[in-house]
Amino acid sequence: MSAQFLAPRMRRVRPSPTAAIADRVRALQQQGIDIISLGLGELDFATPAAIGQAGIDAIRQDETKYTAVGGTVALKAAIINKFSHDNDLHFTAQEVIAGTGAKQLIFNALQATLSSGLEAIIPAPYWVSYPDMVALADGESVIVATQEQAGWKLTPQSLAAAITPRTRWLILNSPSNPTGALYSREELQALAEILLAAPQVLILADDIYETLRYDGALFCTLAQAAPALRERILTVNGFSKGFSMTGWRLGYAAGPEWLISAMTTLQSQSTSNPCSLAQAAGVAALTQPADFLPQWLATLVRRRDRVMAMIDQVDGLSATAPQAAFYIFANCSGLIGKSTPTGVQLRDDIAVADYLLTEAHVATLPGTAFGTPGYLRLAYALDDALLESACQKIANACGELCPTLTEHESVGKAVLR
Ligand SMILES: Cc1ncc(COP(=O)(O)O)c(C=O)c1O
Repeated sequence: MSAQFLAPRMRRVRPSPTAAIADRVRALQQQGIDIISLGLGELDFATPAAIGQAGIDAIRQDETKYTAVGGTVALKAAIINKFSHDNDLHFTAQEVIAGTGAKQLIFNALQATLSSGLEAIIPAPYWVSYPDMVALADGESVIVATQEQAGWKLTPQSLAAAITPRTRWLILNSPSNPTGALYSREELQALAEILLAAPQVLILADDIYETLRYDGALFCTLAQAAPALRERILTVNGFSKGFSMTGWRLGYAAGPEWLISAMTTLQSQSTSNPCSLAQAAGVAALTQPADFLPQWLATLVRRRDRVMAMIDQVDGLSATAPQAAFYIFANCSGLIGKSTPTGVQLRDDIAVADYLLTEAHVATLPGTAFGTPGYLRLAYALDDALLESACQKIANACGELCPTLTEHESVGKAVLR
């Protein structure tokens, strides 16, 4: 009935698969079933105390009013200093903006620049929201598959093949959600060579997992690797992942003044400034020593290795240990085609995730949600004991699967999709 009132653009956008799995988990929990979630994209760590305290102090000092749309002077100064110190990138206050999460900034950038007939190149596997945000801005996503054997990285050849005169954006996410892939300076420079020859293309570098790296892996962002592209790069970052501040809703971006100015105008007519308290906390996050980080990283490496050990043990699952972020993108093609103890054949990764949810009571996300069927994303950002239990439950549930039936044998059996 009410669908008639919805704008046509609502037909182009799907609810986030991450939110959909969270709904399923809640529904099962309401039936009294204990679900362990490896589905969520957030750390279980508390926001570091000093950062939280800065938010509390801001309330006490009544910093509770509207601020400048693109962020307070103090936050912008902290962002400029962060880029200079960590990335050797130098921006003015007119070239940076703070917003209500990296998500809003990406949304604003695409709204400000895309229109019907323009394309955005998105390497797959991709963060679930990019294609929908492109669609909401009337653009068209050009999904470019990357290969597991190539470390899930876009190659110069496949980038060159995807660029057309209508290409407006390349969206590059390093470290990547969902694979943890991390581009080296040399790999970025090789992509930059292609981009230098395509002046119609802007590049969005989504660096939100920058600090969550392991095994001594180095980080480089595209604007740093390819200064010649500086005027066409929007570098996006935020507080959600590196400071465990998902609920504070604060992110930031830096890029050419014309783009930041357009994004600020859009923001001024939609959400206005990000929360003043979050901004105060953000200043503390960027200016105080990140002394919590070594322990977080040690914990995350231990958890990653635990999940990798489980994957190595399960016949039908495989993965390469990621060097960054907190996800493992596991190949589950060896489970596809197997049958459950009740004789239901698992037809695809969605069915595998569904089986793990209903039988093992562990929530994961199917690779299909990230544009790459045949995989499962396992987020290992949860308490060690729960993670241990999740690993055992997944291993047990996978152990109960029966080998692929022949076509003849499977006639008459139910198929779980
Ligand atoms: C790759 C990527 N970019 C952006 C975001 C959004 O971050 P924020 O919470 O700052 O909006 C996420 C969150 O999951 C993400 O994984």
